Amino acid sequence: ENNLIILGIETSCDETAVSIVKNGTEILSNVVASQIESHKRFGGVVPEIASRHHVEQITLVIEEALQHAKITYEDIDAIAVTEGPGLVGALLIGVNAAKAVSFAHDIPIIGVHHIAGHIYANQLVDKLEFPLLALVVSGGHTELVYMKEHGHFEVIGETRDDAAGEAYDKVARTLNMPYPGGPHIDRLAQVGSPTIKLPRAWLENSYDFSFSGLKSAVINTVHNAEQRGEMIKPEDLAASFQASVVEVLVTKTIKAAKEYGVQQVLLAGGVAANKGLRTGLENAFQQLPTVKLTVPPLSLCTDNAAMIAAAGTVFYQKGQRSSFNLNGNPGLDI
Ligand code: KG4
Ligand code: ZN
Repeated sequence: ENNLIILGIETSCDETAVSIVKNGTEILSNVVASQIESHKRFGGVVPEIASRHHVEQITLVIEEALQHAKITYEDIDAIAVTEGPGLVGALLIGVNAAKAVSFAHDIPIIGVHHIAGHIYANQLVDKLEFPLLALVVSGGHTELVYMKEHGHFEVIGETRDDAAGEAYDKVARTLNMPYPGGPHIDRLAQVGSPTIKLPRAWLENSYDFSFSGLKSAVINTVHNAEQRGEMIKPEDLAASFQASVVEVLVTKTIKAAKEYGVQQVLLAGGVAANKGLRTGLENAFQQLPTVKLTVPPLSLCTDNAAMIAAAGTVFYQKGQRSSFNLNGNPGLDI
């Protein structure tokens, strides 16, 4: 039989993740060792701590992924590893683990861009139909990516300042919530009303985004209320903030989907776990029934290695291979 087995490795930020994926679509195992507890007390990811955890975890996580999938190194056709962007020390652990396994067991390696991984998470739940548009929203990225075929990525819009997830995390910190704040704001927003007036950065005639003005407006609202001794309901502030983020993301995605005449729209990245965004997109795409909207389950939205293996499968089939010169590249372009 013609089964293609890819081992995926992802260590770009604060999750040590290894996954085995069959034929680019079927997850045989998907292990994620999260470091969130170690970074929480610092209010964000500490790069040096992240690297140290990856070193401790990577071999164990690889072994666990093989065991869960009930396979051995012999069964693996290629290793797909995140080469960037991300924290350089963190990336180096994954890349060197991939090289070690590659060298010891004579298995080819393929370097994968982290965002390509997030996009290909969708292939684990749905068939991709081109041309398509991906809305990638994570802690480090906010991008609209047009794909006319497999492996072709054209960034048609990106953030000019903060990423959407970064804005969520900073607003959460202002409201004294633990890191990462996105899920907390999301939960709070469900029980609040969007009654507080906040800006929307439309950046006319562009698919670019900007969230730093919105973030500052939220922080100012909190400080002004404190000074005047007024009470603001945190749930209303969360709902108002989320309404602003979601309205801009959904409006620009719909506009781009129409202009580029795409078959499918994919949601990707950690912020894709956001309930408001998922509901907002689902409602908006009911008005555009010719375009298929695909939204991955929460576990495939945040960082994982199944998405890296899924992307790696496509690149493998296109004949791409990396050499032993493969290196972690924190500023890698897609
Ligand atoms: O993709 P990801 O796991 O890591 C990066 O590549 O950045 O995304 C993490 C980001 C964090 O900023 C986190 O707060 C945000 O995704 N996030 C959310 C939600 N779940 C995670 N933001 C808003 N609502 C959520 N439900
Ligand atoms: Zn990510």
